Amino acid sequence: MSRTIEQWLELGAAQLMEVAERPRREAEILLEHILKRVRLYLITHLDENVEAEGYMELVERRALNEPIEYITQNVSFFSQEFYISPGALIPRPETEQLIEKLLERLDPLSKEHLVEVGVGSGIISIVLAQHLKNANITATDISADAIAIAQKNIKLKGMGGRITLIQTDLIEGIDTQIDILVSNPPYIANEIILESNLDYEPQNALFGGEIGDEILQRLIDEAIERNVRILACEMGYDQKKKILAYCADKKIKSLEFYSDYAGHDRGFIMELFQNNKN
Ligand SMILES: C[S@@+](CC[C@H](N)C(=O)[O-])C[C@H]1O[C@@H](n2cnc3c(N)ncnc32)[C@H](O)[C@@H]1O
Repeated sequence: MSRTIEQWLELGAAQLMEVAERPRREAEILLEHILKRVRLYLITHLDENVEAEGYMELVERRALNEPIEYITQNVSFFSQEFYISPGALIPRPETEQLIEKLLERLDPLSKEHLVEVGVGSGIISIVLAQHLKNANITATDISADAIAIAQKNIKLKGMGGRITLIQTDLIEGIDTQIDILVSNPPYIANEIILESNLDYEPQNALFGGEIGDEILQRLIDEAIERNVRILACEMGYDQKKKILAYCADKKIKSLEFYSDYAGHDRGFIMELFQNNKN
């Protein structure tokens, strides 16, 4: 069926009123995806008649609260576009801060071995590899689907030779020295009931255990045990006290928490004493 671009957008936006904060914008994104046109084209050709086959099916999926990123298989992160599909968590804007906070502590020419745990779509390791041209990067995930999605993004970004992917539990099987450990692990308590749009995301990317911070605690233990220099993690807005208590009797050089754009505690950068350099 043929309609003008304006009519398609009005139709789409009307169906998205309930689920979307910006229904017209989301209708545009879906139409851009179907017509393979950029936004500027749409808004300068509103009177053009087009056949938008498949558009209303996408609108219906979105009206059922499926995240728009999974529908278009595209997500923006750190001012770049990445591939995404339901096997990996949709990257969140606050995770950009984890990367920025870590980069502040690192020499851009560093040749250190950096390991990311829970690579998901690959966004953290890829952006770090872009900024740390000499670093040696290994990224792990327990999920085979996530590893496949990360692999696709690594290839799309031309980072094939820079990041080694391993499907494993945390850092099991990595026997070489790890200098920097970074992770946005699952940190939500198992019993928490989340908004329905989160049902579409992999549950092992969200839930971190009965309390929620179990994987964060394991990462802290691994960092100390493995003589890691810096551990950088994203965490839940209510986990600062628990992390502080967990670290109270541990030998840690410094521990700095940071907040997200909304002002909530969101992560920490921990520096650890190196063997014989206390
Ligand atoms: C919150 S997601 C983060 C994904 C991505 N790094 C990002 O920031 O968008 C957490 C990831 O950790 C992975 N994961 C969960 N438990 C794990 C474990 N024990 N070892 C390694 N990865 C794990 C999940 O499969 C998921 O991909």
